[in-house]
Amino acid sequence: MKKLILTTALLLPTALAAQPSSQVAWTADELNFVKAGNPQKGQELAKNCGGCHGESGISTMPGTPSLAGQLPTYLYKQLRDYADGSRDNPMMSGPAKSLSKQDAADLAAWFSSRPPAFKSRSPMVYEQAEKLVTQGSNDRILPPCEVCHGGNGQGQEMDTPALAGQNAEYLVTTLKAFKTGSRHNDIYSRMRLIAEALSEDEINELGFFYQNVNK
Ligand code: HEC
Ligand code: HEC
Repeated sequence: MKKLILTTALLLPTALAAQPSSQVAWTADELNFVKAGNPQKGQELAKNCGGCHGESGISTMPGTPSLAGQLPTYLYKQLRDYADGSRDNPMMSGPAKSLSKQDAADLAAWFSSRPPAFKSRSPMVYEQAEKLVTQGSNDRILPPCEVCHGGNGQGQEMDTPALAGQNAEYLVTTLKAFKTGSRHNDIYSRMRLIAEALSEDEINELGFFYQNVNK
């Protein structure tokens, strides 16, 4: 019995580490399912989200992300991740758990069809952020952000989100969460590995840089 407990204890961390970061797998069926989401139904359901995310998906609360114009596949994946605990947040797990897969696809269709948030370009220059976005960092083997997130922060199929115009405070919070690992729903640890290599100062600058990018 003692031996069994010990073995279990030793195996547990490995089992946890091997847990997939997300239950969403981008099969052709899953992609078609999300593509077929019904925006009219999504609009109805979105009444439950407007209090925090803004009626048309443009949030005015600093820690709450805008959803307007975001990739539907990305929105869908996040809702599924919150629902099964792959992404953990006390504000979102309640709303997400009450949604069916169909609801999530309908909401994704609705919010992705809304015009994205535009923030006027600030006169500030974000030198180190711009360098990370366009060149990355050779010393740290960091690829440029734009390789995945696009030259205008517009995101990329399937699950690389748009960052352009997103609230800086939210971007900073979520990058820090990737850095510490408290957000760990990125498939293949793509964002955790990157955020780990960034300094807090760079993260702050990157947040404001992307808030001021127009898609
Ligand atoms: C009580 C406020 C609140 C309500 C209601 C709420 N949200 Fe959220 N939502 C948040 C906050 C705060 C976050 C950021 C949480 C985090 O850092 O993980 C978030 C994150 C998200 C994200 C992740 C966005 C990203 O860029 O990664 C999606 C998608 C989302 N919410 C969709 C919805 C939908 C759809 C509804 C309605 C069914 C909803 N939310 C209702 C507060 C709320
Ligand atoms: C190898 C591709 C890749 C590179 C390079 C990359 N990202 Fe990402 N990023 C992703 C993916 C994929 C996700 C979505 C993770 C998930 O499924 O939750 C993501 C998510 C994010 C998010 C969360 C957005 C939200 O709405 O919650 C932020 C912020 C972010 N990346 C910023 C950056 C920055 C800044 C850089 C450059 C320093 C960067 N990324 C480089 C692939 C990449």
